[in-house]
Amino acid sequence: MKKSMASAWRICRSYRNAGSLTCVYAAARLALVPVGILCDVLSELKGDVLSIGTGIGAVEYFLADRLPELSFMCLDSRIKRIAVAQRAGHLPHVRFAAGDATVVHHNPVYAAALAVDVLHHIDRNKHATAVARMAEAVRPDGLVIIKDIALTPPWKHAWNRFHDRLVSGDDPACREPEEVAAMLVAAGCLVEQCSRIHPYSPYPDYLVVARKCANRPKLVI
Ligand SMILES: C[S@@+](CC[C@H](N)C(=O)[O-])C[C@H]1O[C@@H](n2cnc3c(N)ncnc32)[C@H](O)[C@@H]1O
Repeated sequence: MKKSMASAWRICRSYRNAGSLTCVYAAARLALVPVGILCDVLSELKGDVLSIGTGIGAVEYFLADRLPELSFMCLDSRIKRIAVAQRAGHLPHVRFAAGDATVVHHNPVYAAALAVDVLHHIDRNKHATAVARMAEAVRPDGLVIIKDIALTPPWKHAWNRFHDRLVSGDDPACREPEEVAAMLVAAGCLVEQCSRIHPYSPYPDYLVVARKCANRPKLVI
């Protein structure tokens, strides 16, 4: 706990060149995102992790600080956010690039692909493509980890919708976790976890963890 707090403090401070509001935003992300749960899921891995829709990268800097055997390749479609993340420059094994996660193709070299609160900011019709691109990036037996926001219960969804409209101006395109799990299966993965997390949070958080099948069964007609 103490180590996590120390990591969070260092990371939030590293954004001070971008202004105090950015430091507060980074702190809010580290408080709202269940980073401890993500650490536990990622702790079985070694190697490079692709993270899509990373924003200013606070979550990835935190995970890299706690799990030094992992490096992170972070992708976000907004160049300004990538620039803020790069200026923070907290850890050398966290790299950033600008790109649309529904468009950029990847070689299957990553130990895992991660999306934290990104899917509901992507056009609903492109969710399956984003999920397929994540699965494509992962080597066989690697993990695809999606933390996102559900549609239910309605009051929590309404709270998240209010938050998103206020913070980003987006109308969120949320889904139930089982729909995302089905997309992962269609992309050739085996779902290992599909559950609601953070029961006391006002946000309807869920986590889906899937493993890319080493031998994807071929359809024989
Ligand atoms: C709510 S923020 C989450 C940021 C970060 N993952 C976190 O948890 O703090 C959603 C991010 O997804 C990015 N995003 C939305 N659509 C995207 C796309 N098609 N490709 C890459 N990034 C995208 C946005 O620019 C934004 O930074």
